[in-house]
Amino acid sequence: MDKNKLLELLRKMTLREKFGQLTQITGEPFIGRADDDMVETGPGYPPDMLEPDTLYTVGSVIGVSSAKMTNRIQSEYLKRSRLKIPLLFMHDAIHGYKTIFPIPLALSCTWDERILEKAAEVTATELRASGIHVNFSPMVDLVRDARWGRVMEAFGEDHLLSGHLGRAMIRGYQKRSDGKIGPAGVAACVKHFAAYGAAVAGKDYNTVDMSMREFYDYYGKPYEIALQEKPKFVMSSFNTFNGVPVTASEAMLRQILRGTYRFDDLVISDWGAVSELQNHRVARDGKEAAELALTAGVDIEMVSTLYLAHFEAIVAEHPELLDDVDAAVLKILQLKNELGLFENPYVDEEAESAVILSPESLEAAREAARRSCVLLKNDHQTLPIGKQHRSILIVGPFSNTRELLGNWACKGSFDDVPTLAEGLKQVDDSLQVNVYDTLDDCPGDVLEQCDYIIAAVGERWDLSGEGHSSVHIGLEDSQQQLIRQVKRLNKPYACVFFSGRPLALQDIIDDIPALLWCWYPGTQAGVAIAELLTGQETPSGKLTMSFPRYSAQTPIYYNEYSTGRPANASSYSSRYQDCEIGPLFAFGHGLTYTGTEYANFRQSSDRITAEQGITFSFDIHNPSGYDYPEIVILYIEDLVSKAARPTREMKKYRVVPVPARQTVHVELTISLDDLQYLDANLQRTVEPGEFRVYINDLAKPVFAFVYEDAV
Ligand code: NOJ
Repeated sequence: MDKNKLLELLRKMTLREKFGQLTQITGEPFIGRADDDMVETGPGYPPDMLEPDTLYTVGSVIGVSSAKMTNRIQSEYLKRSRLKIPLLFMHDAIHGYKTIFPIPLALSCTWDERILEKAAEVTATELRASGIHVNFSPMVDLVRDARWGRVMEAFGEDHLLSGHLGRAMIRGYQKRSDGKIGPAGVAACVKHFAAYGAAVAGKDYNTVDMSMREFYDYYGKPYEIALQEKPKFVMSSFNTFNGVPVTASEAMLRQILRGTYRFDDLVISDWGAVSELQNHRVARDGKEAAELALTAGVDIEMVSTLYLAHFEAIVAEHPELLDDVDAAVLKILQLKNELGLFENPYVDEEAESAVILSPESLEAAREAARRSCVLLKNDHQTLPIGKQHRSILIVGPFSNTRELLGNWACKGSFDDVPTLAEGLKQVDDSLQVNVYDTLDDCPGDVLEQCDYIIAAVGERWDLSGEGHSSVHIGLEDSQQQLIRQVKRLNKPYACVFFSGRPLALQDIIDDIPALLWCWYPGTQAGVAIAELLTGQETPSGKLTMSFPRYSAQTPIYYNEYSTGRPANASSYSSRYQDCEIGPLFAFGHGLTYTGTEYANFRQSSDRITAEQGITFSFDIHNPSGYDYPEIVILYIEDLVSKAARPTREMKKYRVVPVPARQTVHVELTISLDDLQYLDANLQRTVEPGEFRVYINDLAKPVFAFVYEDAV
């Protein structure tokens, strides 16, 4: 359909039909009941508010899956709707639809945009095959507090990394880079604008209060970067921002999102958030809530249906909003048109199964799972399991489980997931593998015979995710005891951890000689981990979120501001008196089996100018037999500045393929723009002065340079 036809369609629409397009509901009202192919991801709102003449004006449906069900609802709808404008189906395929990839926090530990883009491409292909058009992903909220259950959905504590990984996923979902949607692509929805990850004390849905400097330099940055990839949607966040719920904030949605960040597509509220303006107590009733959200710039209301209930009164009082309403409806029509829905609103039910869980998708999921794991500790090269060890005992609550998908696993099925034991047998059938939940369950002769033990422990998948904030983020006592029991057996052993968040392990870490952090790896879990444990591949991931020593050490992050009393042995310094300084495992930490060395550090100049950046170069030598990707991270330290700066700032990162027994030359260039920051008056500035550069190691500078004023 060309634009004139769409405009003609818009002209034919009644006001109710327009507000219908701005409304999204769940699937039940169309078929009269819930079904397995429908998921609810929030509290129920009464669907009976919608009379038939209203129901069949609605523009989109959330949480419905499968070609059969999307087709069925679409056809029920089209039979009854006056203008026959097809529905859009939207879903939360946060790390895969049916082929489940590692949770986003795990994916971020690959630092590899190619891996995230591929994960998103596979997800989009599966979604489209099932009739779904819009994905509520990626989440680019910066996270620093592991108590918040939703850190599992994030890309960690660095704003630049979060932004670029978000961009890669948008590119993968939409399958084009110009704001259009490629074949078998879906519209991406960046969320949750804004600063949702900074909720007070890590409590989900809680208040966010921060300086605008902190916002623009850190919490806002990932959105700013991700928006450059032109996602079709932005979801507004549940939280208040500096006193005003974002759902009702013109400052956030119109001035910053649409103004400063130049987003010009559709804003959708979060689940029920328009109605929740009443709980925030900024709206007296539903009508006022709808009026506030619409005025603030929320185009589509998710699940609560206050726009439809009150549109007549709202437009009577605010005729100036009609232009916005028309503009939003036109964008929705354009999207439906771009997706080809006016020509064919249905999907081929026969074709769906050929696309879902294809061998190519599973291979991508396996690579992603392997690359997401982080080897946090490996004393005396306890890992990989040596060739002399053939009898393996796996013990612990994760020893024999398929529940390794992680939260928000959409339509993923545990049945598709190989356990750890199955994975080990699959990658090396000479291994004898025994599996028990506890050591007490393990018969004496098995214990006697085994020559290597793997303790498979962690935090259950359903303890992280939305609505799962925790005050204790450690390992439960029984699992700590299990590790100590294993230690007492005096056999070689390693720990494999599963979790949706960093855990605080100070009390148990000394009892763990080797620690492989697997997060939640998805559909290929057991096999991917087995490849690492047996040494067929080397771990290569690096942390994107600092690990606290104790729960109460959160929030903790590498780029803290300098203080007047930097942490040191004195208690009159910025530290806790009963805890060692710094995280247990720092941002950027991650070991390999390779023994890689860096050498020949050189810099192109010791001065940076507006015209000329500086290139830092070095060689990476890999003496091992592994071909693997080395993650290289460059940080700077601004020695003196007018406003306090973080002690370290990550400015560049690169995933460098390093073939076995070879040396690779790496060059990283920074320009003056990389030194910019917002000064105390929120002016973007670069100040003359001295800088230090760190490569990977946050403690040891390897380069230094100066920036001198031009005059
Ligand atoms: C609430 C969550 O905050 C959001 O991330 C999700 O997309 C919506 N529910 C829809 O399920």
